[in-house]
Amino acid sequence: MKKLKVAIFISGRGSNLESLIKSSFKKRSLVEVQLVISNNSKAKGLVIAKKNKIPSIHFISKKNFESRVIKYLKNIDIICLAGFMQVLDSKFARKWRWRLINIHPSYLPDFKGLNAQDQAIKAKAIYSGCSAHYVTPKIDSGKIILQKKVKILKKDNTESLSKKILIEEHKIYPRALQMVAKKILNRQT
Ligand code: GAR
Repeated sequence: MKKLKVAIFISGRGSNLESLIKSSFKKRSLVEVQLVISNNSKAKGLVIAKKNKIPSIHFISKKNFESRVIKYLKNIDIICLAGFMQVLDSKFARKWRWRLINIHPSYLPDFKGLNAQDQAIKAKAIYSGCSAHYVTPKIDSGKIILQKKVKILKKDNTESLSKKILIEEHKIYPRALQMVAKKILNRQT
């Protein structure tokens, strides 16, 4: 079976990276993770890549990230942003349309942008969640692939909510990736 080649962009901890790698090892996975790219040389996710024997590259500065990264993406079919804290330019987003996806820690369209969990707590929302979505030039606004709601209890704070949301991120992001891969493979046949 032909597997699609995935590159994962990270900036930090890499727990979503880990869940994507783990699920890609499953026998019936439609993807294989070929490359991890970080815009932060100290990202913990780089250690996760190494542990799983996945090649990785890191950039020391965020400057011209898009033009510098192109040469590494020649054989890549899908890019997953996993805690990648940099807005990619519109040209890049357009070039990768329908092949570039992201996980965001809110039930979009609520709480777009940075610190989404904190935004939800401050807004006294009764629920938030997470969303796997396609990336477009407009931040956190592309078509939703999968979403999951998470209840916010009175006792929750940003930290406890982030933990609850993260558990769901780890479930929906690998599933969303398989769904995207399936769509691409169906288009190719
Ligand atoms: C995750 O909660 C992810 O949804 C969020 O950063 C965290 C990264 O954790 N992403 C964003 O806020 C993007 N706007 P991880 O490095 O452990 O996957």
